[in-house]
Amino acid sequence: MTTARKYVLESQFQGEPKRSDVKIVEEKLPPLNDGEILAEAVWLSVDPYMRPYMRRFKAGDTMIGTQVAKVIESKNEKFAVGDYVVGAFGWRTKTISNGEKLSKLDRSMYTDKKLSSALGVLGMPGATAYFGFLELCTPKAGETLVVSTAAGAVGSIVGQIAKIKGCRVVGFAGSDEKVGYIKGLGFDEAYNYKTITSLKETLQKACPKGIDMFFDNVGGDFYDTVLPLMNEFGRVSICGCISQYNLEKPEQGARLSGTILFKQLKIEGFIVHRWLARWPEAFKEMNGWIEKDQLKYNETVTEGFDNMFDAFAGLFTGKNLGKAVVKA
Ligand SMILES: NC(=O)c1ccc[n+]([C@@H]2O[C@H](COP(=O)([O-])OP(=O)(O)OC[C@H]3O[C@@H](n4cnc5c(N)ncnc54)[C@H](OP(=O)(O)O)[C@@H]3O)[C@@H](O)[C@H]2O)c1
Repeated sequence: MTTARKYVLESQFQGEPKRSDVKIVEEKLPPLNDGEILAEAVWLSVDPYMRPYMRRFKAGDTMIGTQVAKVIESKNEKFAVGDYVVGAFGWRTKTISNGEKLSKLDRSMYTDKKLSSALGVLGMPGATAYFGFLELCTPKAGETLVVSTAAGAVGSIVGQIAKIKGCRVVGFAGSDEKVGYIKGLGFDEAYNYKTITSLKETLQKACPKGIDMFFDNVGGDFYDTVLPLMNEFGRVSICGCISQYNLEKPEQGARLSGTILFKQLKIEGFIVHRWLARWPEAFKEMNGWIEKDQLKYNETVTEGFDNMFDAFAGLFTGKNLGKAVVKA
């Protein structure tokens, strides 16, 4: 009999997630039935969405999440032992699956070195950057983009896609190291939002022709400050609002309907699964950019399943540069 380990909620998160909110338990897995596979986690993803989404779950439920796993036993003809799959198995070391909703990784793209990218640039966060920016911001060469959490998994890719499209890119991140990183990626301007004295004045200086596109990962005050500086017919892609995820109630904000009305702004929120059927198209194009060195990505790797919670909590204190992944 196989034993799996998994993280379950011990109690609902209150404020910043704490290690005592989750615990690791063991689970005995039965022998496989026909049509099933046994998969072992190789890379696990920690993502900001887990914080708000776990509100829907109760104590004892398994932490949600996606992983790259290796098929170690198979009674399903579509999957062979040794195949790698991406599955929404949660925070667990071994999983029995009937193969539904699994994507088998094409090893010509996801080579040994790039397996973890299936959770990052060539995975959900990459698709988020690609479609959330291109479809909703509809960039034109010469336009100015502002992007928040610009050194993160999504933001760092958005900024680079905007550069590929000929835009001027202004990014904000939470440390000088991150600012140096995104400048190295080709961002035109980059600022540490924790040390600037005035976000409004910084934006005015960095965007002398105003802001045409805003890709927001943060929400809160950041959003309230950027919006009035948008140009007429500006486009705003609401990707995330991480500044609000640990709050029991969202903060009260500015009343911006006048700005939205008179500037004729287009503001749209999205969940990346809207474009699920088109993700392969994004990965193909982005992989091409990676191979031509036009698109770079970084991963912050946490070693060991037992340290997975620290990787998750680190998302809310800015510990990651690029995509946060856990090596099982
Ligand atoms: N709509 C969708 O379908 C979709 C899909 C994926 C992700 N998202 C959203 O996109 C955003 C970025 O996700 P990601 O995976 O790329 O994460 P990420 O940017 O790689 O990591 C999170 C980063 O957020 C910043 N942060 C944490 N707490 C903050 C706070 N209170 N105020 C301001 N910044 C804070 C930190 O960077 P700094 O050090 O720079 O502060 C941290 O490194 C999140 O809001 C996420 O929920 C949305």
